[in-house]
Amino acid sequence: MKKTIEDFELKGKKVIIRCDFNVPIQDGIIIDDTRIRESLKTIQYAIDHHAKVILLSHLGRIKEKDDLVKNSLKPVANRLSQLLNQNVIFFPQTRGAESIISTMKEQDVVLLENTRYEDLDGKKESSNNQELGKYWASLGDIFINDAFGTIHRNHASNVGIASFLPSGIGFLVEKELKVLSTLNHPERPYVVILGGAKVSDKIGVIQNLVNQADQILIGGAMAFTFLKAKNLEVGKSLVEEDYLSFCKEMLEKYPHKIILPEDVVVSKTMDKDSFSQTKNIKDFESDDIGLDLGMQTVDAMKQILQKAKTVVWNGPLGYYEIEKYQVSSREILKFLTDLSIYTILGGGDIVALCEQLGFKDKISHASTGGGATLEYLEGKKLPGLEVIQEQ
Ligand code: 3PG
Repeated sequence: MKKTIEDFELKGKKVIIRCDFNVPIQDGIIIDDTRIRESLKTIQYAIDHHAKVILLSHLGRIKEKDDLVKNSLKPVANRLSQLLNQNVIFFPQTRGAESIISTMKEQDVVLLENTRYEDLDGKKESSNNQELGKYWASLGDIFINDAFGTIHRNHASNVGIASFLPSGIGFLVEKELKVLSTLNHPERPYVVILGGAKVSDKIGVIQNLVNQADQILIGGAMAFTFLKAKNLEVGKSLVEEDYLSFCKEMLEKYPHKIILPEDVVVSKTMDKDSFSQTKNIKDFESDDIGLDLGMQTVDAMKQILQKAKTVVWNGPLGYYEIEKYQVSSREILKFLTDLSIYTILGGGDIVALCEQLGFKDKISHASTGGGATLEYLEGKKLPGLEVIQEQ
């Protein structure tokens, strides 16, 4: 068992909390503050226990100078101040915070600038530069990792710091891991729904879960690579030619486990105003593009799901960026929540869609980690967790 924030005496201590404040921001406005709100419990706990709280997070990816301003954490500091109902001091750099930290009083909160600003000059954050991890660690007494979304990364602000300080996990990481660990002994039937564009993103998950799950339902554009692997015409739908043999092998090995669409909504272009219609997968024309699952497929999925006791879902079932292709995802979300079937949503896109369609409060668990959840489902070790001290 990993140490948690509750295992430490925090009073008067400088506690560095690594959060995942990687939230969508447009023109300085936060579009979705879920990840900030999910971090509050740990931050508030540290405040209530009279720590001096130092927050670190990344935001976006920094490749060139133009990425800096738009990925500043300043808007996050403002939102946090509102949510915590106290001033969060924003320090607009990643280094040089010693003097402000030395003046901190108990219960003060300081947020440093985006850790990935350190990537501009030699990828120091993302390559887990030792000097950088050691420097950040020198600012605090205790390190708490509550950034579940980044726990699969081997970066200076999670793995690096933890190597130099007493460390534990926060409440969000604890909650996410507790939910995911239910999959080690799932109540059966255990059904996995996989959508999204690419088979290549899901190979590890398919390979790992095909042995654990009772059924795997395939939707999203990735279904067309599977359908083409069965020698079906899929028109101009997205196909990853390099993965046809993988799909073929999976379908041959697990013919009853992997369930593919029977009908799909097709159109001639991906434009939102383009005419669309439902077709049986045997009726594809060479210029059709598959953009959502048809109702026959949705009904077949419901037949399987209604018996399920555990569902894991990663990736939307249609081209959800266009509203009319959100139908199958919406239908299945509604079905799962109406029947209160235990469902874990992993991955940014399906969680965002779930929120957008108003099912967020009804779903059993919507993970804050996209890549992190996928890597967990692939059975991989999570570097940000491995490095945390045992109890
Ligand atoms: C995420 O959004 O999945 C996490 O914040 C990790 O971001 P990254 O993929 O840029 O490391």
